[in-house]
Amino acid sequence: MLSRNAMRSAIDAFHNNTSLLLRTRGASLTSATARQCRTSPFDSWASGRKHISVYGYTQAKALVYSKYGEPKDVLQLHKHSISPPHGTQVTLRLLAAPLNPADVNQIQGVYPSKPPFQTTLGTQEPSAVGGNEGAFEVVTTGSNVKTLRKGDWVVMKQTGLGTWRTHAQLDESQLIRIENREGLTPLQISTVSVNPVTAYRMIKDFCDWDWMRSGEEWLIQNGANSGVGRAAIQLAREWGIKTINVVRERESPEATADLKKELRELGATVVVTESELLSAEFRSRVKELTRHGKEPIRLGLNCVGGKSATALAKTLAPGSHLVTYGAMSKQPVSLPSGLLIFKNLVFDGFWVSKWGDQNPQLKENTINDVLQLTRAGKFKDIPVDEMKWSWETDGPMLTAAVQETLSGYRGGKGLLKYEGGD
Ligand SMILES: NC(=O)c1ccc[n+]([C@@H]2O[C@H](COP(=O)([O-])OP(=O)(O)OC[C@H]3O[C@@H](n4cnc5c(N)ncnc54)[C@H](OP(=O)(O)O)[C@@H]3O)[C@@H](O)[C@H]2O)c1
Repeated sequence: MLSRNAMRSAIDAFHNNTSLLLRTRGASLTSATARQCRTSPFDSWASGRKHISVYGYTQAKALVYSKYGEPKDVLQLHKHSISPPHGTQVTLRLLAAPLNPADVNQIQGVYPSKPPFQTTLGTQEPSAVGGNEGAFEVVTTGSNVKTLRKGDWVVMKQTGLGTWRTHAQLDESQLIRIENREGLTPLQISTVSVNPVTAYRMIKDFCDWDWMRSGEEWLIQNGANSGVGRAAIQLAREWGIKTINVVRERESPEATADLKKELRELGATVVVTESELLSAEFRSRVKELTRHGKEPIRLGLNCVGGKSATALAKTLAPGSHLVTYGAMSKQPVSLPSGLLIFKNLVFDGFWVSKWGDQNPQLKENTINDVLQLTRAGKFKDIPVDEMKWSWETDGPMLTAAVQETLSGYRGGKGLLKYEGGD
């Protein structure tokens, strides 16, 4: 039987050797990052719900990829251990993380932001952790951490840090503390930083709304049942902006009617299908809704592209903006020249990752605003397809859930809900 001190020395010796190995393989690890992540020989705590050893090493798993491709082909569940936090480091436990379309595009290698492939988690190949947003709970803090303590809930300040992991160790400065988590759920916090922030900023920043005309101005959007679309509906409702919302037909008229009803209950003024939008009659429908333009459609939000985007643009009042933030149909946006010449429409793009990096404080304020609405019952949960993640959950189950993300016509967004212990 090893004494406590002997065991401690054995662990340190193992970690030092691994560190040397990693360096000789050419990995450029700082001592702080190298400390985080080696597989410990003393992982007997693995089977229990608690994943912290008596020496403070946390056992963790992460969904990582070391090359681009389809999630089912390139994602792997990697087991590693995280050393006790030092200085301003914080060790976190996952509560929940959504599976967003952009996360999959990133793994496919077709997304502009590409997290660097690194060996910091002790993977054989340099790898990145999937996922861009999620809610985490603070498990332990380094001795110099000032603003966080055990039990706090946090989100990451930036995208690209990797959220599909049971545990993470980040610096205090990379985290936003949820000031008042009273009445909030992990689902709400894990999905607040990308979609609602995108909807909020697009509505606020691309149109100079006449706030004296509450209820007399409109926005139009496609992909209205998406996470962003649902957020836009509710924010617009709160801010006195009417909305025309475009969705794709479901497999039956009844299912389409149900979806329309669901969005109207969120606050959508009007919900139409893509074929209604593209029909010859839609022009007169818009005239009727807008009282012949007396109530102008001043903003279009486009996450689909192709014919849908063109049709949205045609409904806009002169001088309005069409903001493109997604390309779900993979079709380019093509626009009749007359919309530019005679209506002076403005075509913009928005990317929340870049905006957030440039406006960190405003991003935090926006998150807090949305959470305030959520607490007040004015911002409803998105429908989710929950994938429970326990210590025993195997990699293929998790990667299959990720693979589903872009399949279309889904009942809810994929959500990884971690149910393991600290
Ligand atoms: N630029 C940014 O900063 C930013 C931020 C957040 C999100 N986004 C983008 O916004 C879009 C929505 O994201 P999300 O997380 O809100 O999505 P989500 O909740 O996962 O919903 C996906 C949406 O895309 C629609 N869709 C899927 N395939 C489609 C196709 N081939 N043609 C038309 N519509 C299709 C779905 O409609 P069905 O239900 O009919 O399948 C659904 O409305 C994505 O393109 C995402 O990348 C961009």
